[in-house]
Amino acid sequence: MKFYFAPMEGVTDYTFRNIHHKYFPGLDRYFTPFLSPTQDGRFTGKKVKDVRPEENRGLNVVPQLLTKRPEDFLWAARALADLGYREVNLNLGCPSGTVVAKGKGSGMLADPEGLERFFDEIFAKTPVAVSVKTRLGMREEGEFPSLLEIFNRYPIAELTVHVRVREDFYRLPARLDAFTLPLAQSKAPVCYNGDLTTAANFSAFQSRFPDTPAAMLGRGLVADPALVRRIQGGPSADRETLKQYHDELYESYCVAFQSERNALCRMKEIWFYHICLFEGAEKIEKKLRKTTDPGEYRALAARIFGELPLRTEGALPKW
Ligand SMILES: Cc1cc2nc3c(=O)[nH]c(=O)nc-3n(C[C@H](O)[C@H](O)[C@H](O)COP(=O)(O)O)c2cc1C
Repeated sequence: MKFYFAPMEGVTDYTFRNIHHKYFPGLDRYFTPFLSPTQDGRFTGKKVKDVRPEENRGLNVVPQLLTKRPEDFLWAARALADLGYREVNLNLGCPSGTVVAKGKGSGMLADPEGLERFFDEIFAKTPVAVSVKTRLGMREEGEFPSLLEIFNRYPIAELTVHVRVREDFYRLPARLDAFTLPLAQSKAPVCYNGDLTTAANFSAFQSRFPDTPAAMLGRGLVADPALVRRIQGGPSADRETLKQYHDELYESYCVAFQSERNALCRMKEIWFYHICLFEGAEKIEKKLRKTTDPGEYRALAARIFGELPLRTEGALPKW
């Protein structure tokens, strides 16, 4: 089975990908958080940096696009082809209210005819392979069979199914049973996504769906950066490596953002998941969430690595 790092806006940017790959190599692909191609035909400065080849050396990266306008998808796909990418991923899963209100992300699933028109145009002209990351529907799983019929009419390079509907957001549990249909009937190779957060639940997933060609992991892999290695039978991350990984992330964000305070904010997003790896972290975590002082932040992080026992059973989600 192949393993992919899920796109996570606000977390898995090029800084994160590079450092994750350096300390915990072995993932087959990293998907970028979504880029929104605008109608003026260019990416904004920060976003373009995320896909620049020089920021992604040695990584297998698939850029993701969020748009409902075929012409915007196509100029962006051409720009990405010019940068050397051979595949782009289309986001049909984002559940955010503002995105869905504009008919983008999972909002595109509510208009199957519009989706077909979009596919007709992009597949006629795309200069690169197009993969799709989708949810099961807007409101109910019953929407998925007819969406799959649409997907099956186009040469989609890979279909990643996040087994939730939009109304589930990230809160309701993943609908594991719903993976049976795409696994059996998708013409495109499928990739499973949703709630693979511990080695134990991965193992349960694999016994249920042993023929799955690829799995995409997000929150669990931010929580435990060695999760895929453990799933593959390798060792857990040790304390010293985790500390070095953290310190290099923080220092790199200080450089990337030119601001220790902004770096601190980014680290808090990561800690939201990563803290699960440490036992008895409640008190320090509370302080960590509140602090805006870089000195205090460094001291709290040092305490986590110095004092708190690592969970032996792996990261347990609390989000
Ligand atoms: C903070 C956050 C940001 C996300 N950003 C994106 C994104 O940019 N593009 C996307 O397709 N999915 C995005 N997702 C969804 C994840 O890629 C993934 O589908 C979801 O977290 C379920 O997988 P998991 O249970 O392994 O985390 C995001 C999820 C979270 C929690």
